[in-house]
Amino acid sequence: MAIEREHWKNRTSFILAAIGSAVGLGNVWRFPYVAYQSGGGAFLIPYFIALFTAGIPMLVLEMGLGQRLQKAAPEVFGSIRKGLEWFGWWALCLGGGIVVYYSTVLSWSWVYLWHSIKLSWANQEELFFMQEILQRSSGPGEIGAPIWYMVVGMFLTWLSIYLILRKGVRSVEKVIYVTVPLPMILLTILLIRGLTLPGAMDGIRYYLTPDFSMLRNPSIWLRAYGQIFFSLSLAFGVMIAYGSFLDRKSEITNSAFITGLANCGTSFFAGFAVFSMLGYLAKVQGLPLPEVTTSGTGLAFVTYPTAITMLPALNSVIGIVFFITLLTLGIDSAFSLQEAFTAGIRDKWGGSQEKLTLYFTIIAFFISLIFTTRGGFYWFDIVDKWICDFGLVTVGLGQCIIIGYIYNLRDFKDYLNHVSEIHLGAWWIVAIRYVTPVVLFTILIMNVRAEIIETYGGYPRWASVVGGWGVIVLSVILGYFLWRKPIKNNE
Ligand code: PFF
Repeated sequence: MAIEREHWKNRTSFILAAIGSAVGLGNVWRFPYVAYQSGGGAFLIPYFIALFTAGIPMLVLEMGLGQRLQKAAPEVFGSIRKGLEWFGWWALCLGGGIVVYYSTVLSWSWVYLWHSIKLSWANQEELFFMQEILQRSSGPGEIGAPIWYMVVGMFLTWLSIYLILRKGVRSVEKVIYVTVPLPMILLTILLIRGLTLPGAMDGIRYYLTPDFSMLRNPSIWLRAYGQIFFSLSLAFGVMIAYGSFLDRKSEITNSAFITGLANCGTSFFAGFAVFSMLGYLAKVQGLPLPEVTTSGTGLAFVTYPTAITMLPALNSVIGIVFFITLLTLGIDSAFSLQEAFTAGIRDKWGGSQEKLTLYFTIIAFFISLIFTTRGGFYWFDIVDKWICDFGLVTVGLGQCIIIGYIYNLRDFKDYLNHVSEIHLGAWWIVAIRYVTPVVLFTILIMNVRAEIIETYGGYPRWASVVGGWGVIVLSVILGYFLWRKPIKNNE
């Protein structure tokens, strides 16, 4: 237990790692769509307000807690009040749930990378994804055996994660110098390709034409906050763990601003790459733009590949670029979650990074095989929905309450101002104590209400009880177990 904590070589490593975690699949496949649906250019107003009133304040809080206490989430909360250690474990267990299903998207990306070579999906993109790749069954009740190529994709994903995390901060530090800038460069290539196609400008106009009347709708504001939370990798202990690898006295606030702005800038930028391509697709298919506009898996594995098929030249190359972009975007978000978890274990029980990483990877690999089955897609969808809409929101809320009302927030602010370049004012306190918890609480109530009125995605109730609430309850129990498990060998 008393092993010395590893630290980032320098501030750039820390900021890159934080940006690597924040910038992920969410930036490319969710932001552009949410923005387009929620007022286009006008959405930037609630989005940036959400960034400054909740996103960056929470980033400061998480990074600052890790840096000040030099611990991962469980011990951070445990040191505030003993029983709260459980809360930290719960956050990490939910994060463990995310990495398991997030890896599924990476496994599909590997499979698609392979198929990009021959453009196997050509002219039957939807059928190809649903039937040939996922071989989707009739519903969550029909699971079936794992499908081999997805298992291979999953294996490659976990192998990469293992190799990257094996030496902890030392090995992460090397990888992020590639996985952070590379997707930006690749996105730029995709953007240039997109912009030089006919119809591109129509797409971009669609993406950004502001509709200010939408801002009167409170749900648009809630969406902006929801989007910010997932996008900044908040509430799963990631930024706490990454902060804990900083030397005490390291700068915090400016780093949080840089991370937050870089993340949101990337989202905004990705929107141009996506919508220029969608504009082209609409044009060649003679369809109105809303009909080709999607998000999530549909965008990445159906719509974008359709556009790739229709390109006049270099189709395979653009396909390869696109799927490598997804892989490099996703991998550093995935491993950040795993690292947050193992950092918690190491704090409490010690043990070698290499072994812990190996054990975690093997266990997670086997759990993630559920998502490679014929029914896996449905379970993926349900787990994603619940962890984000209920888990993340509740942990974020708990975090605001614990730090805002139990911890000495003013003293913490003074501490942060002492070490940081940008000085926090009373606005930070207001953000943590009032704005963020009120918004999160409202989102939680709305989500619960929506679920009671109508089960998500039209799945049978039992499936949402098992895959949704079941996973939440399981994470609570697992968190409790880890909290209660005694420390055996005090080295
Ligand atoms: N921020 C990542 C994205 O936008 O894709 C996803 C993510 C990573 C969420 C890590 C949460 C997390 F802790």
